[in-house]
Amino acid sequence: MANMIVVGAQWGDEGKGKVVDLLTEKADLIIRFQGGNNAGHTLVIGENKVILHLIPSGILHRDKVCIIGSGVVIDPEILLTEIDELTAKGHHVSPETVAISDRAHVIMPYHKVIDHARDTERIGTTGRGIGPAYEDKARRIGIRMIDLIHPELLRQKIDAHYDERLEYITKVLKVKAPQKEAMLEQLTMLGERLKPFVTDTSLLIDKAVKAGKSLLFEGAQGGNLDMDYGTYPFVTSSNTVAGAACVGAGIGPTMINKVLGICKAYTTRVGGGPFPTELSDELGERLRAFGGEYGATTGRPRRCGWLDLVALRHTTRLSSMTHLAITKLDVLSGLETLKVATAYKAGDTVMESMPADLEMFPNLELVYDELPGWEENLSQVKNYADLPPNCRAYIAYMEEKLGVKAAIISVGSKRDQTIIREELF
Ligand code: GDP
Ligand code: IMO
Ligand code: MG
Repeated sequence: MANMIVVGAQWGDEGKGKVVDLLTEKADLIIRFQGGNNAGHTLVIGENKVILHLIPSGILHRDKVCIIGSGVVIDPEILLTEIDELTAKGHHVSPETVAISDRAHVIMPYHKVIDHARDTERIGTTGRGIGPAYEDKARRIGIRMIDLIHPELLRQKIDAHYDERLEYITKVLKVKAPQKEAMLEQLTMLGERLKPFVTDTSLLIDKAVKAGKSLLFEGAQGGNLDMDYGTYPFVTSSNTVAGAACVGAGIGPTMINKVLGICKAYTTRVGGGPFPTELSDELGERLRAFGGEYGATTGRPRRCGWLDLVALRHTTRLSSMTHLAITKLDVLSGLETLKVATAYKAGDTVMESMPADLEMFPNLELVYDELPGWEENLSQVKNYADLPPNCRAYIAYMEEKLGVKAAIISVGSKRDQTIIREELF
């Protein structure tokens, strides 16, 4: 038995979905604990691709329990679409396999309107209403799943702040606000359908732990998008480091045995904000093309660059990672030299940790190590020993610099394009 948290080690899109799907075989409960449908987790099974935004990436395995914890913000419409699409594809989605926390907050239609109307260009949010929903949660005026499934509570809670919102949306943001009665009618209908899934998920988890079941926690986004520790304000509106799993699922830290950080062999970022190792040249284009680096949620081209050990050291430490999964190594094949940033330099000051001061980023110089690349196509490699020596050296270099063992190596998007060096469950 083991309970393990999976988190993104960079700026998101590291391949968390693929790894969680793979690890689900040995887990009993798979739990999303933060974020919302800003996440896009891709699973490729044979020739089929499934992109999940809210339902945990364990759902393609039969008879596992997928939980959406209280730390997640839920767009009921998106969740139901996801349930319907999975069901149409023959997957078993029922209250036996999916449970939604009654305490999770709801992304309301006005949250999406606000997110869109505000400066989406500056932060480059996904426009899914994530920030405004978490704002209301912190302001104690949010709508929770428990309200959504009780129409009288829902009306009461919407009524309490509707006029204030209307004023803000129409007068300050100068856009059209969702009409109250239509919104209530639609949400009541969605709540009705979701009701059978809604429960106290922390009790479910506790029961499972007592029965000796294994828990797999699925993070969204990545450590450098964490609201406290990321490149603030260019972050998401939740905590994305491993510690958030306890709060967002409703368990204590003594329940956790392992933390697996998912890390691309290079770096990508979607949206605005500092990205010191970004390649704005044809090499960046090549990574984007070879790595298929387009957002799974918004389709936006991802910014691409070299591996950044400063950013990785930061998240490895903040999540106390015990293991790494290195993904997309196959994308680096054919590059003569691989550069890896080991430190940032501002004047004479050499920094090995992420500065809090964002003003520093435009003027940073980077300290790079150079490692020899490899030519071979990795996509069919099944054993670690069969990886090209320079590729193994690149992995060993990352392990040494980060002080964490790479337990999983991924060389393609499919389940069988994975080298397991250490069984984690
Ligand atoms: P997530 O948000 O962390 O789950 O990652 P995304 O699904 O947004 O993006 C990762 C993308 O890389 C998806 O298209 C995956 O199918 C793909 N992928 C995952 N692992 C590998 C790998 O090892 N090699 C390649 N080439 N693609 C991968
Ligand atoms: P997964 O789970 C990559 C980014 C957005 C934007 C910032 C804030 O698939 O790795 P938000 O809509 O959250 O307020 O946007 O965060 N972002 C992600 N980038 N992967 C994600 O999720 C992301 N979720 C949010 O692009 O820069
Ligand atoms: Mg993604």
